[in-house]
Amino acid sequence: MKLVVPRELYENESRVSITPDIVPSLIKMGFKVFVQSNAGLGSSYTDEDYKKSGAAISSKLNELYSKADLVIKVQRPSKHKQTDEFKFLKNCNLITLLYEQKFKTEFSSLKKLNINVFALEKMPRISRAQSMDVLSSQSNLSGYKAVIDAASLFNKAFPLMMTSAGTVAPAKVLVIGAGVAGLQAIATAKRLGAVVSSFDVRASTKEQVESLGAKFIQVQEKGDSGETAAGYAKEMSANYKKKQAKLLEDSITKTDIVVTTALIPGKPAPKLITKKMVESMKVGSVIIDLASEFGGNCELTKHGEVVDHKSKKIVGPTNLPSTVSQDSSRLFAKNVINFLMNSCESGKFSDFNWADEVVKETCVVQNLKK
Ligand code: NAI
Repeated sequence: MKLVVPRELYENESRVSITPDIVPSLIKMGFKVFVQSNAGLGSSYTDEDYKKSGAAISSKLNELYSKADLVIKVQRPSKHKQTDEFKFLKNCNLITLLYEQKFKTEFSSLKKLNINVFALEKMPRISRAQSMDVLSSQSNLSGYKAVIDAASLFNKAFPLMMTSAGTVAPAKVLVIGAGVAGLQAIATAKRLGAVVSSFDVRASTKEQVESLGAKFIQVQEKGDSGETAAGYAKEMSANYKKKQAKLLEDSITKTDIVVTTALIPGKPAPKLITKKMVESMKVGSVIIDLASEFGGNCELTKHGEVVDHKSKKIVGPTNLPSTVSQDSSRLFAKNVINFLMNSCESGKFSDFNWADEVVKETCVVQNLKK
């Protein structure tokens, strides 16, 4: 079985789908691993590292993709920089992040090919699938990096410092949305010495927030867990939203840094921070809006830009996991191999286990006829 690791083509994408440490396990599973020359360089993995771990390096795309059984990518295929990746995808399985509802053109091109496509963002949220969940592994690093970026944009220190020249007060950080990214943002801000508070519509997050030493801001609403049966946040009532806005208005004026991560699956990101709220913040405050790709939690966010509004910075980051690509690639690759292991009964991979829920949920194109 031939497994192919192409170099990612999108700008700002430094990750690679398979890292050298994973190659020996793939070989054990029966794969021959072919890596495009310099595919790992953006993540500091050299061709030599891949060779040492048993992979073959290929610089010609025709040769790389020829007779491939499985192609593994981080980002959806594209027609980019004189390379049309769709042309090379023939009679194979493709594992990638896809977001078919957002990238409809790419999805419809893939549907025309004799291939199977597994979209990693469709991984079901069941405990068995946690180790295969790319969204979690990448969000965790985004939460960390959001706080590091905020700290470098902020013109004050994070921890309390008692010096002979006077006292430096600790930074006040508010994290909105205490999911995977939010909890890591809380943990990182705490480690840097900030005073942290957090808010989430899912009542079950209170305990997790408090266990990290942060204060939980709670909207008093009886009998509503804020959560669907699948564990996702749900859209709240008008009354709840009004109470939430009031609470945010009160806390945001005392806050130096906001990291906001609130998302409701399948819907645009809820608008939680109004222009008026930004204006009520202290001069020099920083907002990092991790929901910016899905419309943003702040009214003033522009995806991919740093907006300066009355000396407050609002950042709409693109692809934070790619800025810590050495780790994010390693975790991505581990998620992928766990997904393949899931279909590998005798230790050798032969085909996907089509009866398995994880395989069924992630497969968005099933056209492959060998
Ligand atoms: P997400 O990225 O969809 O949302 C981020 C956070 O925003 C969530 O905590 C959500 O409750 C919150 N949120 C939504 N609307 C909000 C609003 N109006 N105000 C404030 N907060 C709002 O969620 P994420 O981070 O991917 O996962 C959420 C939880 O799901 C995790 O904490 C984890 O417990 C669970 N999970 C389980 C997995 C598994 O079992 N395989 C995999 C991934 C997550």
